[in-house]
Amino acid sequence: MFRLSKKGLEFVQSEMKRYETKRSAIIPALYCAQNENDGWISQDVIAHLSEVMELPASQIHEVFEFYTMFNKRPVGKNHVQVCCNISCAMNGGRELADHILKEFSVNENEVTSDGKLSVSRVECLGSCGTAPMMQVNDDYYENLTPERAVEILKDL
Ligand code: FES
Repeated sequence: MFRLSKKGLEFVQSEMKRYETKRSAIIPALYCAQNENDGWISQDVIAHLSEVMELPASQIHEVFEFYTMFNKRPVGKNHVQVCCNISCAMNGGRELADHILKEFSVNENEVTSDGKLSVSRVECLGSCGTAPMMQVNDDYYENLTPERAVEILKDL
């Protein structure tokens, strides 16, 4: 059963005081909980946040469902998000994703058997001028070729 750490709990409580309404703290609370739950949000996490924030679980759930940065299933130690939106798609983003999946023998949205990598295709990550690009955990890698992307991921 998921429980925020002491530090996580203090963070969520301070975020709730920071805004006019507690609902405004749902996004930072989800971020914090995701970081403490190996990179994804389970129903346990939502139930715990609902208890801590004294908000209906449905309100937390709807924010969680809306934003793609909250992962709905377990992810690898390195979670790779390959942008396949218009600029990236026109510059090889889809092929980049295919190449990574093939190279690491993993299906989209699944985790490699060693737990080190997961890959998903996502919409625009806000770096269209340097397409194609990928995000790995909190870092951006831009102007990629399939070979360069694999080299970066192998170094991780
Ligand atoms: S289209 Fe890929 S970053 Fe915007």
